[in-house]
Amino acid sequence: MMDKVNFTQMKDGTKEEYEFLMSHEIDHTKHTAQRLLKALVDLDESLSGYQITRLGHSVQSATRAYRDGADIDWIVSALLHDIGDIYAPYNHDEYAATILRPFVREQCAWVVQTHGDFQMLYYGHHLEGFDKNKRDRHQGHAYFDDNATFCERWDQASFDPEYEDLPLEFFAPMVEEIFARTPYDPAVIRSGERVPLTDDAVAAERAV
Ligand SMILES: [Fe+2]
Ligand SMILES: [Fe+2]
Repeated sequence: MMDKVNFTQMKDGTKEEYEFLMSHEIDHTKHTAQRLLKALVDLDESLSGYQITRLGHSVQSATRAYRDGADIDWIVSALLHDIGDIYAPYNHDEYAATILRPFVREQCAWVVQTHGDFQMLYYGHHLEGFDKNKRDRHQGHAYFDDNATFCERWDQASFDPEYEDLPLEFFAPMVEEIFARTPYDPAVIRSGERVPLTDDAVAAERAV
């Protein structure tokens, strides 16, 4: 049984070695969800100055999505939308979207990818060199309104230390489910399809 390959340059690898590496890689991908949950906890240390931590903000966004009756793609996207803050402070939205894209609806990946532009509506006018209307560059995009709703209801609203968040553990099985999906499955990506962020009937069920 091989425990390591022999090659030092990729071009010298054998079929057996690449098959061995591929099986390792598949094993590794099975733990993506757990690694992401751990990274979210690391977010707790980032960005001081707000009334709540980045982890608190993430969990609050996901809690609001859940209580709005949103589906699992939306909830997990809300939970992870700022995970890029750790390593990519200047394009944290694109970073998060890159992680989510193989496993969630195209609509959700696009919203996460561009939420930074949409969020500027809420603070861009207070800062030199920022454009409050940066989202206007996406005018006419099929998911424009979804992003406006995402930011209004779940992102910009989720900095409240008094809000009753659900615990991160509540969302862990949803993260597991999303990252156990077949990557880039067309049945998951559902290109062009718009699912509303809110569902009053589901929200009412979850409220009891
Ligand atoms: Fe963000
Ligand atoms: Fe955010």
